[in-house]
Amino acid sequence: MTEHQIVTGDTLGVWFSDNLVGHLKRKSENIVDIAFSYSDEWLTHPGAFPISLTMPMSAREYGPETVYPWFMNLLPEGRALQIVGNVLKVAEIDVFAMIEEMGGDLPGALAIRRHADPVASYGHPPGVRRLTEAELADCIRLLPERPVLVGSEGVSMSMAGAQDKLPVIRMKGGQLALPLYGMPSTHILKPRNKKFRDSVPNEAYCMMLAKAVGLQVAPVSIGHAEDIDYLLVRRYDRVIDGGTIRRIHQEDLCQATGFPPYLKYEWNQEIQKHGPSLADCMGAIGRAPGGAMNRIRFFEAMLFNILTGNVDAHLKNYSLLIKSGGQIEFAPIYDVMNGDIYPGVTRNLAMKVADKQRGGHLHGRHWERFADENGLSPTHIKNRVAAISKSVLEKAPIVAEDMANTFGDAGVYQEIFKYVCDYCRRMLSNLKTTPDAEDTQTIAALPRLAPARPKKGKAADDLDVDAALKRINAAEEEAHKRRDEAKPEDDTPSSSRCPGEP
Ligand SMILES: Nc1ncnc2c1ncn2[C@@H]1O[C@H](COP(=O)(O)OP(=O)(O)OP(=O)(O)O)[C@@H](O)[C@H]1O
Ligand SMILES: [Mg+2]
Repeated sequence: MTEHQIVTGDTLGVWFSDNLVGHLKRKSENIVDIAFSYSDEWLTHPGAFPISLTMPMSAREYGPETVYPWFMNLLPEGRALQIVGNVLKVAEIDVFAMIEEMGGDLPGALAIRRHADPVASYGHPPGVRRLTEAELADCIRLLPERPVLVGSEGVSMSMAGAQDKLPVIRMKGGQLALPLYGMPSTHILKPRNKKFRDSVPNEAYCMMLAKAVGLQVAPVSIGHAEDIDYLLVRRYDRVIDGGTIRRIHQEDLCQATGFPPYLKYEWNQEIQKHGPSLADCMGAIGRAPGGAMNRIRFFEAMLFNILTGNVDAHLKNYSLLIKSGGQIEFAPIYDVMNGDIYPGVTRNLAMKVADKQRGGHLHGRHWERFADENGLSPTHIKNRVAAISKSVLEKAPIVAEDMANTFGDAGVYQEIFKYVCDYCRRMLSNLKTTPDAEDTQTIAALPRLAPARPKKGKAADDLDVDAALKRINAAEEEAHKRRDEAKPEDDTPSSSRCPGEP
């Protein structure tokens, strides 16, 4: 492959199916200087949608300050991006050139290619390559050197994120296949993360728990190729429609708030820069169509992340679906994993809530403050915190038992659900402390509830949580305190983040 030339005026077509949505253009020889404009046909298309909350439908041209970070957010991050650059012989910061090579299948509905004809630009119609188990295992083994198999014949796709992953198509009967020449993928395969033991059952458990408590979540399953475990996540931005795979558009909250991927945490210690805060996200979501409902769903997803110890819930781990006509829907939950079971992973949240960095430090008054700051009802918020905490507490042991029965590995699920139950009990306890009591007294800690199924017919709210809350267990509180002391509240999220930040 030859080195990419930077040619002023170079233009890529941005497509939704066979509709030309707009043009991505190099404005000068400065790599960052790229612009986006909607096509006339898209501006008058009855089913049109804006590609981002930051780029409403308009005949104007959007400049690099908006366009460069938005498109950069479609690419892998960190070390994976460096490797992609080496393979493609493209500067890591040359977003235009990366997208040109990898734009065949992207997060969301867009496909980006050099020329006007969406098929001819590959010289080949979209297709698939079915993989035997041995071929799949080979592809997975190749990922650390070839993120998303970049540079392989017919492969043009991209996925955000720092970890190894592979967009695939799950064929009828369950066989996996590689999407080629712009074919849409249907699933994301995430192999075991070598830095974090049991990452696959951990993430699967958290996702299944979200489903059990009634939150919208991307469906997952666990698979194996030879000796490799992987998580298979169904893409919520794809639907199968009469045998055809249709794309639905999405953007993550980094994109929706106009920030580059390296500012996905509220604070980046290495470059001493702030990313968006919770209030910034709530504001952006609230100003968009469907804002009231979407803000509640965002809050519930964030709360669930706190209750499951997913400290890595940064802004690229929340997304918005952008529907035809511009209606916005908060996307299902994805990428939830308990980081607390791993030593050396920070316990600080990716985004502070009411100025608190730790989920375990959130009390009733903090949720009130969070509600006030974001124009939400404090009573409603506290009721939801209680209801979701109780529901997670009820379901955590059941899901652990079900998963152990289905997948084996009972010890992993036991370990995680105990953490999760601890967080929930602590949240419920903290919810009840008044500001004065909280300032002057040790927080009442809670006895462990037996990890057994509740009696048949008992609803989540019927669980005898309140009675349990009254019994103070000083030993458990001590244990919490020791864990907090062992892992000091720090301001260095990017160096010790879970999972897999470079
Ligand atoms: N089920 C899904 N459907 C559609 N898109 C998804 C889904 N899951 C993840 N994505 C997209 O893929 C990106 C990467 O996925 P994911 O967050 O699971 O990977 P990761 O490498 O673990 O990320 P991180 O950098 O947070 O560790 C997400 O930011 C999101 O844009
Ligand atoms: Mg992620």
